[in-house]
Amino acid sequence: MDPVAARLTVSPACLALAGSLRDFDPKDALATSARLRRDGHEPALVAAAMSLAELRREARPRLGDAADAMVFHRAGLEQASRAVVSGLHAERFAAAGCTAVADLTAGLGADARAVAARGLGVVAFEADEATAILAAHNLAAHNLAPWPAARVVHGDSLALLAEADVDGVFADPARRNARGRRHDPADYSPALDRVLDLAPRYRALGVKAGPGLPHEAVPPGFEAEWVSVDGDVVEVGLWAGAAAHGEGHAALVIRGDRHHRIAGPTDRADAGALGAYLLEPDGAVIRAGLVGVLAERLEARLVDPQIAYLTCDAVPPATPFARAYRVIERLPLDVKVLAKELRARDVGTVDIKKRGVDLTPEQLRPRLKLRGSGRATLVLTRLEGRHAALLVEAVPA
Ligand SMILES: C[S@@+](CC[C@H](N)C(=O)[O-])C[C@H]1O[C@@H](n2cnc3c(N)ncnc32)[C@H](O)[C@@H]1O
Repeated sequence: MDPVAARLTVSPACLALAGSLRDFDPKDALATSARLRRDGHEPALVAAAMSLAELRREARPRLGDAADAMVFHRAGLEQASRAVVSGLHAERFAAAGCTAVADLTAGLGADARAVAARGLGVVAFEADEATAILAAHNLAAHNLAPWPAARVVHGDSLALLAEADVDGVFADPARRNARGRRHDPADYSPALDRVLDLAPRYRALGVKAGPGLPHEAVPPGFEAEWVSVDGDVVEVGLWAGAAAHGEGHAALVIRGDRHHRIAGPTDRADAGALGAYLLEPDGAVIRAGLVGVLAERLEARLVDPQIAYLTCDAVPPATPFARAYRVIERLPLDVKVLAKELRARDVGTVDIKKRGVDLTPEQLRPRLKLRGSGRATLVLTRLEGRHAALLVEAVPA
């Protein structure tokens, strides 16, 4: 989006028109656009309002009803933190005793809004002019009493940070550029190291990074917390100073409006024979390297030294950190055998999970040619160094 389009998006006319389109169905886009033009609205305004209405609809699952008062462009929405995660970022700064936080990479302001809503001052820097215009709108509500000031500064945060009177610093560096997704933290914008180097100068520092961040990239003295939301690993937060709960690795598992935390050493668990139950650790626990800690808590063992499935003999205790399955049958990973077994059970729909096996569910499913009426879950993995398929059923949580 360019600055001209951004100014049109935040214009009163566009906000009013987008507001009137709250329930519009994108399938009716042509008819809606024709109707609005017949009503005398300029084509550019109609396009901007319809695009905004559509982005608000897409934003609702991530940002809640607040999305209806916000403005977006697509790239900014795709990068915006979920409201539940932004709220927890903000909570860290509040609990650290910060009074004002600089957001070095405001984007459309999802994280900065959460900090302001938590009652802290915010200086939100954004390098891209159009994005800064939209962020200023999204933060405007927080300039009203009783909120402390929240302001957006268009420019390079690293060059301007020294002028901001803040005691906390947050950054969510851009992990995409014109060449696509950047995996090397040195290619983030701003580069991860440059942000981490700020830690000693502030009371609290937090950085949101991609969940694939290698463990070696976590500097000594930082806490690294991998976060999953309803099963998807969304980020690793690197926290320092008063914002860190401690040093080392943690996993935060968010399900609905509840969150659960596990932390500890990243030692490996022992592997052993398959028991009566299989446990699939949450992705955040795996990324954090905390499968060993979880295994100890659940009195479980790995099914294979290289594979992050756990197994145990007795019904495992209920845990938010893993899904539990009862093992019904252990089968060879052989298409003919699996097809015969599943057909004998009248299975028509099979959910397939896999770890440590190249065969994908998309490759296997059509080869099974199932026509039954039942449903089953298959886990493809390695046991004692050999491929195997486990027919399992979920243990109710
Ligand atoms: C991943 S997005 C931030 C999303 C934001 N946390 C949210 O939840 O809405 C990163 C943003 O940082 C901006 N950015 C990158 N380098 C910057 C810099 N040096 N100064 C200010 N902004 C920067 C990009 O333009 C982009 O909009």
